[in-house]
Parts: sequence; structure tokens; C-alpha cells
Amino acid sequence: MEIAGKTVLVTGANGGIGRALVEGLLKKGAAKVYAAARTIEAVAELSKIDKRVAAVRLEVTHATSVAAAAEHCPEVDLVINNAGINRCAGFMAENAMENARQEIKVNYLGTLAMCRAFAPALIERKGCIVNVCSVIGLVNLPVNGTYSASKAAGHSLLQGIRAELAPHGVKVLGIYPGPVDTRMTSGQEMPKATTEEVVQAILEGIEKEQEEIYPDAMSKEVSAALLQAPKEVERQFSAMIPA
Ligand SMILES: NC(=O)c1ccc[n+]([C@@H]2O[C@H](COP(=O)([O-])OP(=O)(O)OC[C@H]3O[C@@H](n4cnc5c(N)ncnc54)[C@H](OP(=O)(O)O)[C@@H]3O)[C@@H](O)[C@H]2O)c1
Repeated sequence: MEIAGKTVLVTGANGGIGRALVEGLLKKGAAKVYAAARTIEAVAELSKIDKRVAAVRLEVTHATSVAAAAEHCPEVDLVINNAGINRCAGFMAENAMENARQEIKVNYLGTLAMCRAFAPALIERKGCIVNVCSVIGLVNLPVNGTYSASKAAGHSLLQGIRAELAPHGVKVLGIYPGPVDTRMTSGQEMPKATTEEVVQAILEGIEKEQEEIYPDAMSKEVSAALLQAPKEVERQFSAMIPA
């Protein structure tokens, strides 16, 4: 999908990958960008910088908030479901049940609610849904175990809605980043891609309508290895558990 001239909504637009996506979409010539965040104040600054940005209040876990956003932004061509949380812990961590509940609520159920709410408008405009998943939704990273599981659910969601919406002319694309330098990974020592390089690859992938977009070196390497030797990748990721 060509981005120039289109109307786009980005969730979690107040920081990290979301904010960089808003900036990248504007550079690509988007006609209007709805920058959605839990508080309007968090994105109000973006709408002052560029008049094409409209701030939208959105809490993806609240049905009324999701419905209000869909009603407020009926003319979208592209919805980028970027909002997400990572409690950065394993299945045996003390708070694992609560971590898993919250991650599923935001990363899976919140994304599902957004896809359902915006589907009628996207069907009407033959639009596109882009969900930010994760390469660790394709193989479990045990130190982020419950998050990986929620992103695996997000990957399955993508495949399902892609099939359901394809006959209606709606494209569904998935983004599978490796580690990116944002608030989510702050305090985690490892090589990280920058938001700018990831966003550039994401926007190029959207323009080429690639169903699966691996936007950084690590995600490209892992996805290729998963095709060749999935058990070996699982072993490598298991070995990242601290002794
Ligand atoms: N960073 C990485 O290494 C990495 C790798 C792979 C995939 N991802 C995915 O990329 C996406 C963006 O993450 P990021 O790295 O940019 O992290 P981030 O800076 O923490 O951004 C997460 C965004 O999601 C929003 N959000 C969280 N819960 C929400 C809710 N219930 N309703 C609405 N918005 C909510 C946050 O809003 P608040 O500011 O209000 O909390 C924030 O704007 C996520 O889906 C993440 O899982 C990240």
C-alpha cells in the first residue's frame, strides 16, 4: 500500500516505535495520522509539530475506548497496532500469572479488539491492518516467557484475520522485530536496533505489502534460522536463561 495520501492510525504513538512510526509516516506523505495514546497529553505535542497529526485517546483494553476511537476515525486506510507491554519475566517468576494476564490483555486481546472495531471501515476502503508482533512470538525467549507467549497468540491472530479479511480486500501484515532501543528494553544489555532503522524497514515493507516484515538484522537472522533448524533456535534461546 502506498503511504502517500493515506489516513493512518497508530496505537502506542507516544514513544518508542510508535512515535517513530508517526514521524516516518509523515515523511512518507501520509495525508493524516491519528496518533493514539492512553492520554491525549502524551501525543498533543505531535499534533502541534504537524497539522496532519490528530491526537486520539485510546486504551486498547477498554471496549468503550476502542469503540470510540473507531467512531472518531472512520476514514482510516491503515491501522498500525503497535501498543504493547512486556513484563520481562519468565513463567516461574513470582508474578507470572498476573504478568501473563496483563500481556495477553494488551498484546493479544487489545489487538484483537482493535482489528474487530476497525474492520468495517477497512473493508469499505480496501485498507490494511499492520500488527507489531515480535520475533520472540515465533520462538519462546524464556527470560521474557509470558510476553513471548502473548506475541505467539498475536502471530496466530494475524494469520486468522488475514484469512478472514482477504476475501474483503483487506491486507493484514505482521512486523516481527528483534530487540529495539526503546523504553521496553531499557536496562537490558544487548545489541539493539534503532527505532529509525526499524521504522524505515517497516514502512518499506508496508509499501511492498510484505505479509511478514523482519525489520532488523537480528530478526532477519532468527527468522531464517527458524526455517532451517527450529529446534536449534529453541535451544539457543533456552540457553539465554541466566545460570
Ligand atoms: N522494543 C523492542 O525490543 C520490541 C521488539 C519486538 C516487538 N516490540 C513491540 O513493539 C511495540 C512497541 O513497543 P516499544 O518497544 O516502542 O515500547 P514502548 O516504548 O514501551 O511503547 C509501548 C507503547 O504501547 C502503549 N501501551 C501499552 N499498553 C497500552 C494500552 N493498554 N493501551 C494503549 N496503549 C498502550 C504504551 O503507552 P504508555 O506510554 O501509556 O504506557 C506505549 O506507547 C510493542 O507491541 C512491542 O511489543 C518491541
